[in-house]
Amino acid sequence: MKRTTLTMIMVAAIMTDTAAPIADASSEPVSHNKWVRVWDPLVRIGHWLLLVAIATALITRGEPETLHQAAGYFVAGYVVFRLFWGIAGPKHARFENFLASPFAAFRYLADLVSGKGTRHIGHSPPGGLMVIALLIAMSLTAGTGMAMEGRTPMPAALQNALHIEDRGRDDDDSPWEEVHEASANLILALVILHIGGVALASIGHRENLVRAMVDGKKRAA
Ligand code: HEM
Ligand code: HEM
Repeated sequence: MKRTTLTMIMVAAIMTDTAAPIADASSEPVSHNKWVRVWDPLVRIGHWLLLVAIATALITRGEPETLHQAAGYFVAGYVVFRLFWGIAGPKHARFENFLASPFAAFRYLADLVSGKGTRHIGHSPPGGLMVIALLIAMSLTAGTGMAMEGRTPMPAALQNALHIEDRGRDDDDSPWEEVHEASANLILALVILHIGGVALASIGHRENLVRAMVDGKKRAA
């Protein structure tokens, strides 16, 4: 009897953690109100897999083709998932809760370096803008990668209007090659800024933001 009750409690606990419901359960208090759940499992798993995929795509630089493109397609899939999750996901994953103006981002950063930064449970204003910038740069890179391969999902008429031909594989003359390289470099620059921002905010607010991206929890106050 006791064993059944214990099993039921365990199942309920797992469901609460992984179901990632549409409402605000991601920020529900955990253990005596000291910790709150901020990042749901899909955001966390997606983040670390994205890191592996981006690193793979940047290191392989086109060759071996299969590995490079598999990583690139993963990134494209992540972008589609994150756009959906930004609308239908739990509270802190939703765009409406972290989209901020560049002015708010600048003010947050200025306050942070002067030691009076406001702590945010979800993304800070520059953190939110970084998510958007990364999503745009990743779409552009993955999209131009596919276009280079002649696998653009564009209708033929639009493809002709833009003078994109189905050139087959690895064409050095593809008009998209330079955009692909430039946007990949942009991703790298954004990632460096992102890591710097995470370090700065972790120090400024005296909290381990990387650990929060692993276990999903942050201090309530
Ligand atoms: C290729 C490298 C990386 C990419 C593309 C990337 C991308 C992202 C994205 C898109 C988010 C938003 C998560 C979401 O709302 O779904 C995020 C958040 C975050 N990332 Fe990364 N990331 C990278 C590397 C790293 C590394 C190396 C670290 C650790 C040092 C890190 C730590 C974090 C943390 C702590 C957050 C949450 C930030 C916050 O509290 O607002 N990321 N990252
Ligand atoms: C967002 C993820 C991606 C990143 C970060 C990325 C990054 C890169 C980089 C840095 C290069 C070397 C550019 C140069 O030096 O000219 C490259 C080349 C290439 N990428 Fe990607 N890529 C991504 C996605 C894709 C996808 C989805 C495809 C195709 C389906 C693709 C196809 C190619 C091809 C064919 C080349 C060789 C171009 C050439 O030099 O002829 N990439 N990529």
